[in-house]
Amino acid sequence: METFHIKGQKPLYGTVAVSGSKNAALPILAASLLTDKPVILERMPALSDIKVMCDILSALGCSVASGAEDTLIIETAGLSRHKLPYDLTGRLRGSFLVMGPLLARCGRVAISLPGGCAIGARPVDLHLKGLSALGATFKITKGIIEGTAKKLVGTKIYLDFPSVGATENIMSAAVLAEGTTIIENAATEPEIVDLANFLCSMGGRILGAGSNTVKIIGVAGLTGTRYAIMPDRIEAGTLLTAAAITGGQVTVTGIRPDTLKPITAKFSEMNIPITIQNNTVTVEPRKTMRAVDIKTLPFPGFPTDMQAPMTALLSLSEGTGIITETVFENRFMHTGELCRMGASIKVSGRNAVIEGKKSLSGAKVKATDLRAGAALVLAGLAARGDTEISDIYHIDRGYDALEKKLQSLGAEIERKP
Ligand code: EPZ
Repeated sequence: METFHIKGQKPLYGTVAVSGSKNAALPILAASLLTDKPVILERMPALSDIKVMCDILSALGCSVASGAEDTLIIETAGLSRHKLPYDLTGRLRGSFLVMGPLLARCGRVAISLPGGCAIGARPVDLHLKGLSALGATFKITKGIIEGTAKKLVGTKIYLDFPSVGATENIMSAAVLAEGTTIIENAATEPEIVDLANFLCSMGGRILGAGSNTVKIIGVAGLTGTRYAIMPDRIEAGTLLTAAAITGGQVTVTGIRPDTLKPITAKFSEMNIPITIQNNTVTVEPRKTMRAVDIKTLPFPGFPTDMQAPMTALLSLSEGTGIITETVFENRFMHTGELCRMGASIKVSGRNAVIEGKKSLSGAKVKATDLRAGAALVLAGLAARGDTEISDIYHIDRGYDALEKKLQSLGAEIERKP
């Protein structure tokens, strides 16, 4: 199994461009099933999660071809199956996002109920509640959930929690429903807006995406489209954190700073000098970093996906910071590994109390999930000595060539077989 080897304490300098957003690309790939015309997607990140979603589309009878650079061409005219293969869905929770589009396109879907994962139980009750309200019926046998829908009819749906995935599944299905659907207490993440923009580029009619109330006016059919995925705000935040934790100066380009506001606001609170221009953000060398408290919340609150990277940063800040993780119930698994590098973190329930230290020491550590792995890379970049990270396949799920981007900024990080 591949590992990352990092020689720490090298301040990063330079400019780096972010890739397309994993969490926008996955629902958009799934929503490509809503049309039988060609869909061309640009700025697709090269990630293992994206590869699995493409393999799922192929397994359903669609054709997925690589175009120039980071472009994919999806043609779903050959869609001939509605059962998703377990060997693929078991590797990607995001495969559940295919449910709404398949119900809308062909009125049936069969997919393994996604189990929990490292960070939590990850139920899908809100997805099923919304799709049932549109007229789908479900039955579960041996862990496989089969959905059927003779016709989807628009209705009003209130989400008990502003679930990103449930909002995406319901929005995608409602685009082809008869009549109008209103989703209340919808998720407002930028990835929801990107999916809505994608659907509207195919002739969908969606109003209010990015607010708590989304209105979808059903249409009879959708055209093909050419669409560029939004830049990845979590990758951008992770790269900016790499600059801050090593005391360097890095400009991250090709981003939408408005999607990074919760993150850049925290950096300013920590006295990390930050400059925001129209599509770049620069972190400048800092003297000290003041510890702050962070509470993860649905957008526009602080993103849970940046919680682990910020835990690493707070481990080297002046003072004590408290992180409260309100979105997932088990998202502190990186703290044990960070403590093995000399961090002082005490976890109790949803809170982690981090007492900043002067330095961390390199160690052999293991990635437990995607963002935890990123946190260990950040800690290794700042630590005295060498760090070896195993199970880096977790990191490859959500970061496109992270080590190459960091190497271009002067980091001594190497991927070893
Ligand atoms: C999306 O997951 C992202 N994944 C996650 O990113 C991200 O952390 C999360 O949104 C929150 O922003 C993708 O977009 C592919 P949720 P999702 O439904 O849709 C509860 C990463 O690291 N819930 O908003 O699964 C759930 O248990 C990943 O890139 C229900 O109770 O997130 C959780 O506590 C990790 N019932 C909370 O809502 C449901 O039916 C947030 O889940 C659905 C969710």
